[in-house]
Amino acid sequence: MRIDVVSIFPEYLAPLELSLIGKARQDGLLQLNVHNLRDFTTDRHRTVDDTPYGGGAGMVMKPEPWAQALAAVAAARPEAASADTEAPEAAAKPVLIVPSPAGERFTQATAQELAEEEQLVFACGRYEGIDERVMEWAADHFTVRPMSLGDYVLNGGEVAVLAMVEAIGRLLPGVVGNPDSLVEESHSDGLLEYPVYTKPSSWRDRDVPAVLLSGNHGKIAQWRRHEQYRRTAERRPDLLAEFDAGKLPRADRTAFADLGYDVVDGRLRRRPDAGAGRN
Ligand code: ADE
Repeated sequence: MRIDVVSIFPEYLAPLELSLIGKARQDGLLQLNVHNLRDFTTDRHRTVDDTPYGGGAGMVMKPEPWAQALAAVAAARPEAASADTEAPEAAAKPVLIVPSPAGERFTQATAQELAEEEQLVFACGRYEGIDERVMEWAADHFTVRPMSLGDYVLNGGEVAVLAMVEAIGRLLPGVVGNPDSLVEESHSDGLLEYPVYTKPSSWRDRDVPAVLLSGNHGKIAQWRRHEQYRRTAERRPDLLAEFDAGKLPRADRTAFADLGYDVVDGRLRRRPDAGAGRN
């Protein structure tokens, strides 16, 4: 996969040289290029912002440096999609991700979808955002996707890009050493992950749950599933509304009943008389 990031603070992206993503770059699994938006300005002051039409606080990013920068990265297609392949015209448009609190929510499902792409381009806005016409213009060259990490406001897109590139990059084949670790983790099945323990089995008067020492793999798997249900009901009950409960074994239905949820038409429904939960 090729990833291009355009930012006025390229140094902000330095952590992408570390750890698993840094190693993936060294191993050639991920080609990641960071570009300084100011390199695409033409004035002496390398200006990237101006006052907003209609008035109001803050500054807006000017369209022309963005168009120059995005045209340059769109021209640099990954090898597989470059002009010397047999059918270059068949190559998909790269995806342009614009981090913004006004974007669609970035989730594990989005990360999985984007991990299939050949080229991703991230446009890090600062100030009050990028002139909206850039998004309209870019739609001719990219699949444009404004994306939000969550319902809070950051100072710019760079921190969001660090999070999204890590979430996407670790799904690329070969990046995470043991692919099994991608299977049983939070959000891979719509639930939060079960709690984990390591040695010693007794630590500061706290014992590891006995079932985990039993060697009974069926019992361990069931305990872990039920812990996922308990945690998700307590911390993220919103996730349970989406959970497919149609094929749950009886013991799992009982576990949900104990948490105050019944299965109705394959979906979990919180019993109105259930004890005061968090939500
Ligand atoms: N830029 C500013 N806030 C953001 C958010 N919540 N998600 C993604 N990008 C952002």
